[in-house]
Amino acid sequence: MEKYIGIMVGTVVFNGIKKGKTYYENLSFYEEAGEQYNLIPCYFRFKDIEPGVDTIMAYVLSEEGTYILTPIPKPPIIHNRTFTGKVSAKKKMRKLKEEGIVFFNEKNRYKKIRINNILRMNKKLVPHIPETVKAGKGNLQMMMDKYDELIIKPNSGSLGLGIAKLSRLSDQEWEFSYRRQKEMVKERFSTTWPFFLLKLIANPRTIIQKRIPLAKSKGGVFDLRVSVQKNDSGEWQVSGVVGKVAKKDWYLTNVARGGSCYSLPELLQDLPHLKEDQVFEDIKRLSLNVALQLEKELPKMADLGLDIGLTNEGFPMFIECNGRDLRVTFRNADMQEEWKKTHSTPIGYASFLYEKRGSS
Ligand SMILES: Nc1ncnc2c1ncn2[C@@H]1O[C@H](COP(=O)(O)OP(=O)(O)O)[C@@H](O)[C@H]1O
Ligand SMILES: [Mg+2]
Repeated sequence: MEKYIGIMVGTVVFNGIKKGKTYYENLSFYEEAGEQYNLIPCYFRFKDIEPGVDTIMAYVLSEEGTYILTPIPKPPIIHNRTFTGKVSAKKKMRKLKEEGIVFFNEKNRYKKIRINNILRMNKKLVPHIPETVKAGKGNLQMMMDKYDELIIKPNSGSLGLGIAKLSRLSDQEWEFSYRRQKEMVKERFSTTWPFFLLKLIANPRTIIQKRIPLAKSKGGVFDLRVSVQKNDSGEWQVSGVVGKVAKKDWYLTNVARGGSCYSLPELLQDLPHLKEDQVFEDIKRLSLNVALQLEKELPKMADLGLDIGLTNEGFPMFIECNGRDLRVTFRNADMQEEWKKTHSTPIGYASFLYEKRGSS
């Protein structure tokens, strides 16, 4: 019997399959892993799967090497690569799960403050988690009294949009940096808070976070994207670590905001006082502990993209956790092996889930 592994994608990726243009998904990596694990990847959207219906129409690779929309048995194991958080989707999701279908990474959007609070429950992690509070005048004053640099950002994912920075210049003076349209703006102030700052912190969806003093390399500050995934033994593994460098004199490393990608060894060339093996080990340990801690409160997680900052002393600090890593940072840094691994590891995990099903 054929065993299918469902890859649930968004509309843009789905529509691109026929044209061979699938953006951040590299289907050939899924196919290769499918061969290795004896699973057939099939690709579809959330709207293509219905409770009470045994088959679905999905793209499957044909013998000729082209993708054909084919009716196939509903796959029992599904890797979610799209967002399914909508309220209207909840009921359908519940019904599908009642039928015994397993979605991994079912939920993949979490509020940053919630993630922060879950991580802080673990004492071992606390030194690696920057203090984070909800916005508001009182909280901003408190954070300004406590720290010299702050990041002000939306509580939910933003691709680096709407993220501002506050830096103390002296006892009396602060610098407020943000982006207005395409322009990077820096404003100085002492006692009167700038209008845009007031506007930002009046938004209940804004959070204030201590800024981690990020190490510099290749002309800018950088942080790391760490792919942490469940593997074919059902255990968390680090599939890859890659660096993102901000533009010169800027504080955002997001690739969507012009950040450029490098491997960690490349970045450490500019930091000769740090030992590569040690830094790697520390990043891996923190990342695995973060995944283990999050899993305690947020079940079914299997694929995370962590943003981890590194201080000049090589101390790893947690910045945020993405529930649907686009994985392209690895491609952009020319890290083909790691890029492939981020696609093949979830297929391995699906194989583990299949075996678990069979034996129970
Ligand atoms: N506390 C922080 N300290 C230092 N840099 C930060 C901090 N928070 C955010 N940044 C910078 O801004 C970028 C985007 O912030 P992040 O929390 O990852 O939000 P997004 O969901 O927009 O990616 C980070 O990759 C990092 O470069
Ligand atoms: Mg980020």
